[in-house]
Amino acid sequence: AGIVVAIDGPSGSGKSSAARGVARRLELRYLDTGAMYRAITWWMIQVGVPVDDSDEVAARSSEPEIEVGIDPEHPTIAVDGVDVAGPIRSREVTNAVSAVAAVPAVRRRMVEIQRELIGSGGIVVEGRDIGTTVAPKAHVKVYLTAHEEERARRRAAEGLAGAKLELTLTQKEMALRDRKDSSRTTSPLNKAADAVVLDTTELNLQQVIDRICALAGE
Ligand code: CDP
Repeated sequence: AGIVVAIDGPSGSGKSSAARGVARRLELRYLDTGAMYRAITWWMIQVGVPVDDSDEVAARSSEPEIEVGIDPEHPTIAVDGVDVAGPIRSREVTNAVSAVAAVPAVRRRMVEIQRELIGSGGIVVEGRDIGTTVAPKAHVKVYLTAHEEERARRRAAEGLAGAKLELTLTQKEMALRDRKDSSRTTSPLNKAADAVVLDTTELNLQQVIDRICALAGE
């Protein structure tokens, strides 16, 4: 009942759909940690904190109340009671989130909330540091990857469908964000040594879910 499945990987690797699908299939709860970093980033922008000012971000990081819903059928994310599921996917938030997520005070606070949720029962947790930091004792650790072009294609398909300019922009912005994310010293968002690497470039969603469930002994 208390099984913990950690799913890490870069943007566009298919983490979210896979993690939700696995949670549904195994009747576990689902936690999108990226949504939490996006939510606190949205709040910083909203109140006018310059996201590149890490001291200011740290000083104000305990102000917003981040509430994350863990039902895989209806994941929710709210800040101070306001539903932010839409706005946290904006380009503005997407391009600012790496800077905010790099601030240690922000990470400490998010990880604390995440560990509390993980401690209270079976759950699929998706993010960048789950297998290494948030849940190092997770029963199943998966690191999803996909070739860069395929990841950008998936990302662009989620937004303005198909436009070529969009694809180029998305690919550039994604590469930049991945670079910012992985050049961090505070919390290297790396693959856990004991994580199973799953390249999703040639797999459909169902196949990815099947493989992760198999690792979970289902
Ligand atoms: O949607 P996408 O997979 O591109 O990213 P996300 O999972 O929504 O995460 C957004 C950003 O939050 C990442 O680019 C990281 O900067 C940060 N993040 C993090 O630092 N640690 C996590 N566990 C999850 C996300």
